[in-house]
Amino acid sequence: MSRRSQFSREVINKMQVKLPALSVNEAMARAAVAAFVSQLDPGVTEIADIKCAVSEAVTNAIVHGYRHYEGTGSITVNVSILTGRAVKIEIKDKGCGIPDVGVARTPLYTTDAAGERSGMGFTVMESFTDALKVTSKVGQGTTVTMWKKLSERGRI
Ligand SMILES: Nc1ncnc2c1ncn2[C@@H]1O[C@H](COP(=O)(O)OP(=O)(O)OP(=O)(O)O)[C@@H](O)[C@H]1O
Ligand SMILES: [Mg+2]
Repeated sequence: MSRRSQFSREVINKMQVKLPALSVNEAMARAAVAAFVSQLDPGVTEIADIKCAVSEAVTNAIVHGYRHYEGTGSITVNVSILTGRAVKIEIKDKGCGIPDVGVARTPLYTTDAAGERSGMGFTVMESFTDALKVTSKVGQGTTVTMWKKLSERGRI
């Protein structure tokens, strides 16, 4: 059983942000998600984990998804607060897509020929959240969905 099936589908509150795929908007997307999730009074570590995972997904959309699009693409971020103190975060691009998601998710795998990237983005998203789903179609785009359960007490 995948870990994502353990999360509620009942949405209490939701937010959508759509931004041009510009690197200046990476910080905006991260901050917007953090601000929305703050209504659950998350712990400091939890909010840092969420920001980091969102950064990786948004950076991937800009750097990889829209690598051939010269700033014309957009990124849609959907955040849902689920029952049971859980959040679902979806980052969607309509870029080039990923030919083999299984391969792309392998630690250290990167298509970056310049050698500036470490191939650890998906691994970071996986370790900072509780479940990660990646769907992609070549020529149509990629959707990354992450689920995270917050602690009952918060502030840890
Ligand atoms: N949104 C996307 N659109 C197209 N390709 C993607 C997308 N996200 C990831 N990829 C592909 O998956 C590979 C692995 O992504 P990952 O984030 O793990 O590593 P990276 O981006 O190459 O390096 P790092 O994240 O460590 O800087 C990328 O090199 C790229 O080929
Ligand atoms: Mg990456």
